[in-house]
Amino acid sequence: MQESLKGRIALVTGASRGIGRGIALDLGRRGATVIAVARDEASLAPVCAEIIKTGGQTVLHACDISNVTAIMSLRQMITDKFGHLDILVSNAAMMGPRTTLGQITQAEWQAVFTTNVTASWLLIRELGPLMLRAEAPRAVFLTSGSGSKLSPGRGVYAISKSALDAVVRTWAAEAEATNLRVMLCNPGPTRTGMRAAIMPDEDPMSLKTPEEISPQIVRMCLPGWQENGKLYDVPRDKILEFRGPA
Ligand SMILES: NC(=O)c1ccc[n+]([C@@H]2O[C@H](COP(=O)([O-])OP(=O)(O)OC[C@H]3O[C@@H](n4cnc5c(N)ncnc54)[C@H](OP(=O)(O)O)[C@@H]3O)[C@@H](O)[C@H]2O)c1
Repeated sequence: MQESLKGRIALVTGASRGIGRGIALDLGRRGATVIAVARDEASLAPVCAEIIKTGGQTVLHACDISNVTAIMSLRQMITDKFGHLDILVSNAAMMGPRTTLGQITQAEWQAVFTTNVTASWLLIRELGPLMLRAEAPRAVFLTSGSGSKLSPGRGVYAISKSALDAVVRTWAAEAEATNLRVMLCNPGPTRTGMRAAIMPDEDPMSLKTPEEISPQIVRMCLPGWQENGKLYDVPRDKILEFRGPA
């Protein structure tokens, strides 16, 4: 029997496909009201229809999280409709160019940082106060193993995830004395469009699907989850501590 999230309000960015879709469906099946966010409304609609079909409730909210005005409108919508937010899953991201640092244009660099780092900070700034009104608020940010590895030729994505890790750890430390719990999550190689674009020669059937890994991620959204400021590594099913210089 899955732990219920009945009555909880959950926001998932990048809910239209891939890992975000898997998480949104899982949250919906457990009874949460899922605010499903992505840019393309037409791809969000079938996800919302599936949530309703499995007995869940949902709000389709198409917006571009790289736009500060869009995030402020999202905050206003949540304030007006619900007055608080229980769960934030900041999952949407972009890969950016697969080139060396010397070849990336400033516009490409900024686009990756705006979507992968600045948007998460803006979600924290705009939605954090709404989360502190909830009984057991939980936030999960999707990062990547490449943030802590050398990734020559796709550096900007890796560097953005490394910066995201620092943003999230900072928020977790700031939230330590509250009832908010904040986690990073490395999903590991997963069968999605983004992965296929990065590794075109890989057999997608050798990878886990978003549906297979989403229960591991949704665990961190449950009221009973107590870890804060750590990285949950899905492939190893391990909670990792950050290690600074000795
Ligand atoms: N797949 C893997 O193997 C893997 C491994 C490590 C980490 N990750 C991380 O896991 C997360 C999900 O990855 P994925 O593979 O599921 O990606 P994906 O298949 O490319 O899906 C990305 C989702 O984000 C949305 N999105 C992108 N830019 C957006 C924006 N500016 N505003 C709103 N929504 C936006 C997309 O919808 P629209 O295009 O309609 O906006 C889509 O729903 C990412 O943070 C990724 O870095 C994935």
